Amino acid sequence: MTQVPVSPRPKLAFFWPLRLVAVLSLVGPALIFSYNTWQNRQAIDAQANERIERALDVLQEHALKALQTVERSISETNEVLRGLSDEAIRAREADLFLRIKRTQQALPQIEAIRVFDAAGHALVSSTTLPVVRDIDISDSVHFQAQKNADVGTHVSDVVSSDVGALWFFIVSGRRASEPVGQFNGIIGVTVMPEHFAEFYRKLTRGRDSFALVKTDGTYLARFPDLRLGESLPRSELAGVSRQTPEAGFYTAVSQLDALERRVGYRRVPGFDVYVEAGIETAALTDEFWRRFLTELAVGLPIVLLVFGLAVYALRRAERFQEETARREMAEAALKQAQRLEAIGQLTGGVAHDFNNLLMIVNGSAARLKRYATDERSRVALEAIQTAVKRGVSLTRQLLSFSRRQTHEAKVIDLKSRLAAIQEMLQSSLRGDITVETQIPHDVWHTKIDLSEFELALLNLAVNARDAMTSAGRLIIAARNVVLAKPNPLELDGEFVAVSVQDTGEGIAPDVLAHVFEPFFTTKEVGKGTGLGLSQVYGFARQAGGTATVSSELEKGTIVTLYLPRSTEPVEEDISAAPRGARASQRDVAVLLVEDNLDVVKVTQGFLEDLGCTVTTAHDAPTALSMLRARRERVDLVLTDIVMPGSFSGLDLARWIKQEYGNTLPVILASGYSENAQAAANEGFTILRKPYDIMDLQEALTNVMPARSETGRVVPLPHRAT
Ligand SMILES: Nc1ncnc2c1ncn2[C@@H]1O[C@H](COP(=O)(O)OP(=O)(O)OP(=O)(O)O)[C@@H](O)[C@H]1O
Ligand SMILES: [Mg+2]
Repeated sequence: MTQVPVSPRPKLAFFWPLRLVAVLSLVGPALIFSYNTWQNRQAIDAQANERIERALDVLQEHALKALQTVERSISETNEVLRGLSDEAIRAREADLFLRIKRTQQALPQIEAIRVFDAAGHALVSSTTLPVVRDIDISDSVHFQAQKNADVGTHVSDVVSSDVGALWFFIVSGRRASEPVGQFNGIIGVTVMPEHFAEFYRKLTRGRDSFALVKTDGTYLARFPDLRLGESLPRSELAGVSRQTPEAGFYTAVSQLDALERRVGYRRVPGFDVYVEAGIETAALTDEFWRRFLTELAVGLPIVLLVFGLAVYALRRAERFQEETARREMAEAALKQAQRLEAIGQLTGGVAHDFNNLLMIVNGSAARLKRYATDERSRVALEAIQTAVKRGVSLTRQLLSFSRRQTHEAKVIDLKSRLAAIQEMLQSSLRGDITVETQIPHDVWHTKIDLSEFELALLNLAVNARDAMTSAGRLIIAARNVVLAKPNPLELDGEFVAVSVQDTGEGIAPDVLAHVFEPFFTTKEVGKGTGLGLSQVYGFARQAGGTATVSSELEKGTIVTLYLPRSTEPVEEDISAAPRGARASQRDVAVLLVEDNLDVVKVTQGFLEDLGCTVTTAHDAPTALSMLRARRERVDLVLTDIVMPGSFSGLDLARWIKQEYGNTLPVILASGYSENAQAAANEGFTILRKPYDIMDLQEALTNVMPARSETGRVVPLPHRAT
């Protein structure tokens, strides 16, 4: 299995609409909310203006009426005094007093009506009889104003009476005169500011303020907070009304009570007087915030909910994407494994036939060599045998890959093997390559075929050597890993991960996917067969694990073997039984079962050379009927496992075991068989194809019971010299 570099990163095209939704779910409401807030502000201001306008209507109407009636009382007084000289007035004071008192009493806003002569002395008053004649108002502002020019109705500032704390303003007009235009004195009407203030008090709501103001900003009446008699600040209106003299709005902090207000003003027609209505801006701001918070309280949870949903959807989609990527990776890995499996079956089949051929060539060459007398023939035959050996190692690698190799798994402890492995590898590498091992002391045991494992490490080391053209490092590491499905390796359980890492040229991504395939090589013709990594992969799979490769160009390559953990104790290393010297097996009657006639010939030759007598059968059913018939003597059965027909060599061996027990030994020959492992597990002796006469003799020696002195003795093996 290769670690195909599938990118787990989510595709942008898939996520941007969801991200957009998430962002819009926040930005959209924020924009709407801002717009709404702005609108609220506008609406509150408009409402405030409207309220101010309504108040101004009332104030203006009230002020106009009040001032006009005062003006009328001046006219009426003029009517009463018409044609009377100052002396005549003094003479008829009592009568006149009553008449103007009546006028005064009809109007609640008026405190007094007084008449003055041209020098500013009082002639008659609506409040006292007789009038205090010493009173002289010739210095007062309103008297001067009337005297200097015919100003019509004049409104004075607020002043206090000489006698007590009585505050008022005076509305004055000239006395009628004959001839017209001559200054004849004034009629002054004392107006009470309280009259206005009281009216304003009834109108106000909250901290509204209403006022009657002169053009220059001097207050005549105000509610609230007009403390008469103090030196009053002027209304801010004075500055504003110069630009828009008839009506308008302004916002200012009042110097009277330090409150900020939005104020509307309007001129009272015919008088140099304004009415003012103000609403405290804090009240407007409070209203604004009340609306703002209400809308926020309703809107925010909804917005957050929508945003949360969008984010949730995004996360789900991302997880889905990751899951898809993971599945794609697993599928790719599975496909790769299936491909390798298919190739394995194909190569296994080829190797099987090839093994038979090699056996025939090798066997024939060996026999010829024994009869060859001249040196040249012997050399030629040796060359044939060398080529066969090379062929044998090739088929062995192929069979490893296709997992058709019979493997003899043993529980081993990697640590104890380390020194030997390192030595073995170092000898196959160049001097400028250092081998490092990183194997922890607590690494688990694993049950593997040691020779296949060594071959795998050797293949990896040779690949690493070829990849490191100059000096480099080869690191062999092992670690314990626990895997749980799902994972790209599709493995479950405890494993020992053995990795071989180099600092070589690395493998290009397009090459990486193919390196485990048999015959895949990037090396020149004659330099590599492309079977090294195939053997590595096949070995790891047969052991119950797998192999992965990852690589980065110019950095190096790591091949990792995942080998399943074994909890069994380490088995003693019983070195291969020594090969017996060739000795005759005289008188052993062998039944040879083999479908390939050439193989029959070669094997028969070997057996006869070893002194056996041979009967042949070309398939298992024939052998079975021969054994049943018991016509020939049979001391031992040597059978191929895979033969045409449904009844295999293994079936035959099982039948013999059942029928004869251990009295009739069986040897199973196999170059390729999925059942070879099962056969070995069942305790049968396996002879790996291609075999030579030595292998055959060893197998015979192992299975034939030692005979007595009678001459039918199989000699016990002894060490080859
Ligand atoms: N450690 C490595 N560094 C770089 N490339 C590697 C490495 N191991 C394998 N390869 C690449 O993988 C290909 C296949 O390797 P493999 O061992 O199966 O065959 P080979 O080495 O070419 O031939 P053989 O091992 O049969 O002599 C190599 O040809 C090489 O391109
Ligand atoms: Mg190789």
